[in-house]
Amino acid sequence: MTPLSPAIGAELHGIDLSKPFSDSIFDEIRQCLHEHLLIIFREQTLSPRKHRDFTARFFDLESHPFVESISGYPEIIAIVKEPNEHKNWGGPWHADVTFKEAPSIGAALYACEVPPCGGDTLFANMYLAYETLSDGLKRALQPLRAVHYSGDPGIFHTDFKGMRPKSARAENATHPVVRTHPISGRKSLFVNRMYTRHFEGMTEEESRPLLEMLCDHAQRPEFTCRLHWCDGTLALWDNRVTLHHAMDDDFNAMRTGQGFRRVMHRATLAGERPV
Ligand code: SIN
Repeated sequence: MTPLSPAIGAELHGIDLSKPFSDSIFDEIRQCLHEHLLIIFREQTLSPRKHRDFTARFFDLESHPFVESISGYPEIIAIVKEPNEHKNWGGPWHADVTFKEAPSIGAALYACEVPPCGGDTLFANMYLAYETLSDGLKRALQPLRAVHYSGDPGIFHTDFKGMRPKSARAENATHPVVRTHPISGRKSLFVNRMYTRHFEGMTEEESRPLLEMLCDHAQRPEFTCRLHWCDGTLALWDNRVTLHHAMDDDFNAMRTGQGFRRVMHRATLAGERPV
């Protein structure tokens, strides 16, 4: 096992996820996920079925509310950036689907087609984001809840030509700003720039200064790691206590319209209500 950074992420070696392996090896993998919040497996060859079956060992799976699944696999979506597109669909820092009452507890992203350089994903550790706040701010945040809003799913997809949007309604949900992980019992910060709109009982304008401060704090470089993908990399993260951010760094696409293609398959773990 090789850590990606002191804050988050570990690469696991010597496991072929396409082959059967024992429950005790699986327990070690799960333990590593709880410790490092993001685990990486390199040089995998995973059909959608193998990808789904491995991910389903962790928890039930669910389909994405706004993106059509790939054929035959309701739990897997394709995240596609075409060569003429500059932005990745998973752009700004976020946790997945926090606009749902029960946001997904994790996801497994498999790199099908990635460039030799570019299209990396950053991850951040939200336990650290909480633990490094002052005691005074921790006390102030404890009773707060925040409203998370999806935005209009139609608009959400017009910029991403490679994606297959579902026809769906906007969703919102209210969650605690500080949540407690059901397994570790540790507290983490639970806001993100993509979906958290305002604190319950306050306007967006009133909420903005503190929300901005918390989002900036959560993205501090020392709380993060940077994952460079190769074809066949699989990354699985705990969505309850992490943020992620797909880099929009295809500058050839921006300048000339001829950049790289990036295709990922994402299997999404079902959700639980944050407490
Ligand atoms: C996501 O937000 O799930 C996608 C991240 C990525 O494509 O790197």
